[in-house]
Amino acid sequence: MNTKAVVFDAYGTLFDVNSAAERCKNKIGNNWEAFANFWRTTQLEYTWLRSLMERHKDFWKITEDSLDKSMKVFKIKSEMRNELLNLYKVLSPYPEVKKVLQHLKKRDLKLAILSNGTPALLNQLVNSNGLDDYFDDIFSIEEVKIYKPNKKVYDLPCKKYNLSSKEITFLSANTWDVSGGGNYGYNAIWVNRAENIFDKLDYVPKAEIKDLSKLLEITN
Ligand code: LAC
Repeated sequence: MNTKAVVFDAYGTLFDVNSAAERCKNKIGNNWEAFANFWRTTQLEYTWLRSLMERHKDFWKITEDSLDKSMKVFKIKSEMRNELLNLYKVLSPYPEVKKVLQHLKKRDLKLAILSNGTPALLNQLVNSNGLDDYFDDIFSIEEVKIYKPNKKVYDLPCKKYNLSSKEITFLSANTWDVSGGGNYGYNAIWVNRAENIFDKLDYVPKAEIKDLSKLLEITN
């Protein structure tokens, strides 16, 4: 693939977005997973809607706003709010992430994150999970103040590294983000962790992998 840089989405790809609600599952109850999925879907909808309305708010505020709606829908006690938000700041990485980054780091490649998250949030996530040493850059959409899948976002690593889109391998577990990055021109790989169905958005992923470990073989 002539890859010069490997760029990862953060939420859902490196870090488990459901891990905040999962850690409170005893307090939330049996529907903790439905609640976590609703929170995530609402959060993403707010990013797309705010981009279309040209009313930008940063990802942390959107995470709070979407949590407020989700807590009302699922009738979750208001005292859970701070706990859930604090846990969202230190989401767990998926089990294979560190090992894969260690292997990739030995190769002559740029390694980066490209995410909707704010710089502060992303730095805290990377820090709290001991992943600081692996990334050359953490690109946040706050640089362009519009959310994925806007092309201005996918432009960020190309500009910084002076690379063409085809020299970048992009990984996301979010189907729409794979379509966004792929239509932009990246070699986009779908990390299909949950056996989902891919979107019909004019792009077929260059590869589909179940978790990130397979990436080591593909980019060899
Ligand atoms: C991100 C979201 C899309 O990290 O997962 O950008």
